[in-house]
Amino acid sequence: MTIQAGIIGFGYMGHFHLRKSRLIEGLDVTAVYDVDAAKLEEARQEGLTAYDTLEKFLADPNLSLAIVCTPNNFHAQLSIACLRAGKNVLCEKPATMNGAELEQVLKAAQESGRFFTAHQNRRWDVDYLVVREALASGAIGRPTSLISRVYGQRGVCFGWRADPEAGGGMLYDWGIHLIDQFLQMFKGHKVESVYARLQSILTPAVDDSFEVQMLFDNGVCAKVQVGTFSLQDLPRWFVYGDRGTLRLDDFTGTSGGMARIRQEVSGFDSVFGKNLGPSRTMAPLRPEFIETLELPKVTTDELAFHTNLLHACQGTETPLVTPQDLRRSMGIIDAAFASSRENAVIKTAI
Ligand SMILES: NC(=O)c1ccc[n+]([C@@H]2O[C@H](COP(=O)([O-])OP(=O)(O)OC[C@H]3O[C@@H](n4cnc5c(N)ncnc54)[C@H](O)[C@@H]3O)[C@@H](O)[C@H]2O)c1
Repeated sequence: MTIQAGIIGFGYMGHFHLRKSRLIEGLDVTAVYDVDAAKLEEARQEGLTAYDTLEKFLADPNLSLAIVCTPNNFHAQLSIACLRAGKNVLCEKPATMNGAELEQVLKAAQESGRFFTAHQNRRWDVDYLVVREALASGAIGRPTSLISRVYGQRGVCFGWRADPEAGGGMLYDWGIHLIDQFLQMFKGHKVESVYARLQSILTPAVDDSFEVQMLFDNGVCAKVQVGTFSLQDLPRWFVYGDRGTLRLDDFTGTSGGMARIRQEVSGFDSVFGKNLGPSRTMAPLRPEFIETLELPKVTTDELAFHTNLLHACQGTETPLVTPQDLRRSMGIIDAAFASSRENAVIKTAI
């Protein structure tokens, strides 16, 4: 059964979903609704029906799926309208602006018997999959502390991303992806506390830099660091285990290093730190104590998300990004905003 879909908001991500759908047999994007006439013209050029009102879009009986790709502040109201019109909804991330909005959307989904899911596509990024694979193999022992970091150089949040009313800022933009990755990585474990610091450094009014720390009930401390302005590179991932350490430099998942200790270190007499000052604790290990490991090699299925989306529309699968996943990630976002506002650790059970 072919599924016809319509896109709301034909900007950067609207075009992304059109391109993806054209790689999936059975998923046909046929229509667009946008508030910008130039975007409607782009849609016509692509051979799509261009609707200039939401009512006309909702009234199209052939559309069983709506893909919402507007700025973040419109996600909830547009998704609810689509669900009430009997359409399944894939919404761009963040699913909504907060947990309360999300509950309204999920209620609308339940009442309409349609599904609501969000585009947490970074679950299929190879760098993330390498970290997961390394942890699953036990190569560096029990994970104790992880840092997931994304920094840009341009120093600005542009367009609606600079507007707090529109849901601008980096916590909504990148934070939601990196938080979702950690929640998936430690799926069976609850986040017991959240501490966050949001900063507005070069873009006024929204967070163009932030740090969120989550403490899981297995003792793991997971830290997300995002900023728009750094002219020196730090690794994308740094993972401490109780037997070793993993570093990934970038999104390729192939540049970095992994090492573990061969045996317990006994005594500190025979090692000397160079340029370290008087310390034995922080002196390096002799090389024979360290085993260098190959980074795991992973492949990813770049069509996995949209293939599942099609099957969910056809009723043969459920969406991979579940209401429960969205409740958890929006719960962390709410806690992070509260933590930064109050400069406090927020106790959670997420
Ligand atoms: N999953 C990802 O990797 C990823 C990457 C980038 C952006 N996003 C998300 O995609 C969404 C859109 O981001 P973008 O970068 O494509 O933005 P964009 O500015 O390129 O496009 C937004 C489009 O929405 C239209 N629009 C604005 N208000 C509207 C309304 N009320 N009704 C209908 N159309 C409206 C605009 O005219 C524009 O065409 C955001 O939620 C963003 O967080 C996700």
